[in-house]
Amino acid sequence: TYVVTENCIKCKFQDCVEVCPVDCFYEGENFLVINPDECIDCGVCEPECPAEAIFPDSDDRATGWLEINRDFSEQWPNITRKGDPLADADDWKDKPGKKDLLSD
Ligand code: SF4
Ligand code: F3S
Repeated sequence: TYVVTENCIKCKFQDCVEVCPVDCFYEGENFLVINPDECIDCGVCEPECPAEAIFPDSDDRATGWLEINRDFSEQWPNITRKGDPLADADDWKDKPGKKDLLSD
């Protein structure tokens, strides 16, 4: 499966939503997650994310994010249409240390 990681937090560009063939993204206040059981591993979303937040769960940069994606995908609503990025998305893009800012 692919997973969404820290770089998405406070950006939420949503280009990933537009391309997913199985609509397996779920939306929180300032972050999106992938439902690992629904993702078909097509990889199409990975290069679309302007924040480079999406990785295969086997990637080192995805360490610890599989459970977060699984847990929140069971709580948050499904998102199938791209909305606007968060207001300060460009300012938060590429900022390190955002993990504690994830709103649940
Ligand atoms: Fe959707 Fe494919 Fe990305 Fe999985 S890898 S979330 S199926 S676009
Ligand atoms: Fe987040 Fe990137 Fe999608 S910032 S909402 S994972 S396009």
